[in-house]
Amino acid sequence: MKSAEYRGRYHSPALIREVHDLLALIPGDRWIDATVGDGGHAVTLLEATAPNGEMLGIDADPESLERARGRLQPFVNRINLVNDNFSNLASIVQQHRFHPVTAVLLDLGLSSYQLDQASRGFSFRDASLDMRLNPNQQLTASDIVNSYSEEELRRVIATYGEEPQARRIARAIVRHRPIYAAQELARVIEGAVPRRGRRIHPATRSFQALRMRVNGDLENLETFLEQAVRVLSQGGRLAVIAYHSLEDRIVKLFFRQESRDCICPPERPQCVCGHKATLRILTKKVIKPTADEIQENPRVRSARLRAGMTLGTGGPER
Ligand SMILES: C[S@@+](CC[C@H](N)C(=O)[O-])C[C@H]1O[C@@H](n2cnc3c(N)ncnc32)[C@H](O)[C@@H]1O
Repeated sequence: MKSAEYRGRYHSPALIREVHDLLALIPGDRWIDATVGDGGHAVTLLEATAPNGEMLGIDADPESLERARGRLQPFVNRINLVNDNFSNLASIVQQHRFHPVTAVLLDLGLSSYQLDQASRGFSFRDASLDMRLNPNQQLTASDIVNSYSEEELRRVIATYGEEPQARRIARAIVRHRPIYAAQELARVIEGAVPRRGRRIHPATRSFQALRMRVNGDLENLETFLEQAVRVLSQGGRLAVIAYHSLEDRIVKLFFRQESRDCICPPERPQCVCGHKATLRILTKKVIKPTADEIQENPRVRSARLRAGMTLGTGGPER
């Protein structure tokens, strides 16, 4: 579906009230939306920081950024949109001299617009087997499917997709290569792992695994988290929404580690690491969407929100 045809149908942002409350932005704040997407969270937070708060918005997908630019037109004087990967957060902030930063939001995954665009190959109903967020990147899903060894494919599908049938799927892919269409790949996987007893399509986990491998999602998240704590001012807030258990695990462990003064293994009688806490966790329990929100927008059902407040390692105090 082309951007124009999709006009007026924006991605429904997950946990918007919870994000708003946790970030606690006030008029005049400068903050970063590291995955600006369709600008849904951005609109709410720009309203909360009116009349003079400023947002730096990042997205790796140039088409998403253009959609955000259109939607955020009423705030044009208070926004700066950057087409880049959030794993480059620190250098983006430096390049745009965007200081001090009172909040950073990361809403992982894809927007409804991206998922519904058949040409991108994110869904197993699609024609192409691409899956790149950034069209200038080299590696596509087709490269992985058609050139990885059976063992490499198994590892990608098992690790990123947490797919128990990864071995059978990898074997079937290798047997049916070359595979150039997403629909074709979905059929091959369905043939190897019948739908029987599964609540989701048998190809769902494998597609997710390919998407994560193509775009380096887990690696980008780890790099981002370390930088986010550094760019935030003292008392600045970081909120992350993950939709995948591996991503949420990375966020949970990062928050846990950064909230501790010592990260030595428990068997060490004395601290040797010298680690100092950089964050206070604001979400003792992970925040999930309510039943009402899931009913209204089933795509948010796996959303998990965690937030923390920096303790004084970053820039000037808020
Ligand atoms: C769930 S959507 C964000 C939706 C947005 N919060 C809203 O309210 O409309 C996730 C966005 O993150 C972008 N994205 C994913 N990985 C990225 C990365 N590594 N760097 C920058 N943007 C990324 C995607 O292109 C997508 O637009």
